[in-house]
Amino acid sequence: MIYLRSRSEIGTLRQAGRIVAEVLNSLESKIRPGVTTRTLDQWAEKLIRERKATPSFKGYQGYPATLCTSVNDQVVHGIPDSRVLKSGDIISVDVGANFNGWHGDAARTYAVGEVAVIFQQLMKVTKEALEIGIAEAKVGKHLSNIGHAIQQHVEAANFSIVRDFVGHGIGREVHEDPQIPNFGKPNQGVILKAGMILAIEPMVNVGAYPVRVLDDNWTAVTQDQSRSAHFEHTIAILDSGAEVLTV
Ligand code: MF3
Ligand code: CO
Repeated sequence: MIYLRSRSEIGTLRQAGRIVAEVLNSLESKIRPGVTTRTLDQWAEKLIRERKATPSFKGYQGYPATLCTSVNDQVVHGIPDSRVLKSGDIISVDVGANFNGWHGDAARTYAVGEVAVIFQQLMKVTKEALEIGIAEAKVGKHLSNIGHAIQQHVEAANFSIVRDFVGHGIGREVHEDPQIPNFGKPNQGVILKAGMILAIEPMVNVGAYPVRVLDDNWTAVTQDQSRSAHFEHTIAILDSGAEVLTV
């Protein structure tokens, strides 16, 4: 079932979202050649706990870390480890924070040092796709318009949209109803209502959309080894339009 959250509940969700945004902002200067993904993870966990919140992903279905750090052809759910970032890499960082029982969830892809133009375009198009999807999140409109708009934008740029992972409702749990595919037909299914809280998260590949999960049972990579980008925000559907909570 899809919950409709009150003004005061959205107030707390905004606080959780703010912590998530602070983590992603602070990583802008930490992500550089020579740093390990584990160092980024430790930094993020410390910042979240200093804010009296807890990492949403750590322990979720056995996930072992605060961040998901997905490098180059890794799409999502890369586990932080001793990998050293080098100039030319791109890294998608996904983070969730639980503040007073309410979750925020967001992701960004960052360039490490100097990155080839095609990968800069990949990141730009994925970020735009998220923004275009958010612009479709209006009271009285169909949920499927979000994914449709995202897919149109990504495919117009000759990139592909991942099918095997979707956005989701969020609130007291990290993953709640509804599922939010990043592709499909417009004007179908659920009608958006004020108080819905959604995590919208397009994952975009340079090459083809199929992915596979590595033997660690978490890390999703592109099957064709092309690179992938991921941007995510948690939003609240309000009568006045969508409010981005992870800022
Ligand atoms: N934003 C991602 C998602 O919604 C993060 C989940 S990672 C997990 O799927 F470890 F919590 F699964
Ligand atoms: Co999410």
